[in-house]
Amino acid sequence: MTKTTLHSLLDMKRSGEKIACLTAYDATQSHLVSSQKADIILVGDSVGMVVQGHESTVPVTMEDMLYHTRCVARGNTCSLVMADLPFMACATLDQAYRNAAALMQAGADMVKIEGGSWLCETVSGLAARGIPTCLHLGLTPQSVSMLGGYKVQGKDPEAARKISEDAHRLEAAGADMLLLECVPTALARDVSCAATVPVIGIGAGADTDGQILVFYDVLGMTPRRVPRFAKNFMSEESTPAAAVSRFVADVKSGLFPASEHSFGA
Ligand code: KIV
Repeated sequence: MTKTTLHSLLDMKRSGEKIACLTAYDATQSHLVSSQKADIILVGDSVGMVVQGHESTVPVTMEDMLYHTRCVARGNTCSLVMADLPFMACATLDQAYRNAAALMQAGADMVKIEGGSWLCETVSGLAARGIPTCLHLGLTPQSVSMLGGYKVQGKDPEAARKISEDAHRLEAAGADMLLLECVPTALARDVSCAATVPVIGIGAGADTDGQILVFYDVLGMTPRRVPRFAKNFMSEESTPAAAVSRFVADVKSGLFPASEHSFGA
């Protein structure tokens, strides 16, 4: 199978083919997700909640991310592997360089960073050093204390303008991808149309260039409250491989997400 690259993802954006992404945290999940042809595997810091049992992603360390990135890289067949820089891993430029380099050496093809235009210097510095970045905007779970909970972001015009501006500035600084979490469908559509790099959504409606969900949510194995944007694909399929395959097919055909998984203004 041909491996997904940043170039193939750009081609997909240009041709209108939707990008299907799932999280994975170990080699078996990674093998399952990549063999069902998900374009991107995210080694998400959601590992803190869904694997380690924490209340948030804040306790996740670089050591945790390196361990899970190595596991996922070993199981991967053809997907692009993106790994999260965890809470405070980019607090200084020097930390960002060292931590991003460590994730790449552990097997990531690109790194994801939560935050807005204050990260422009980090993004351009990483780009200059050959490290591709995805910038996570909207609901950024590492800032849950600041945001006052897991709430839809960008609902009022001022907040929406800030997210659009951040997206524009981060792309200009060299970001290779954007990820929008829990924002109104119309805002996500505007950001995706304006961006020349792929925009992946989760709880951001159907008009982004791609979709991502958490592995356990797709398999209906979520002990906590299931977020509105998630869908249990095991309710229609009988094996994990079939459920992952259905997720990929439904993203590609535009069947997922439906309006019930999305947010209005
Ligand atoms: O950590 C994660 O799994 C994520 C996705 C939910 C986008 O950031």
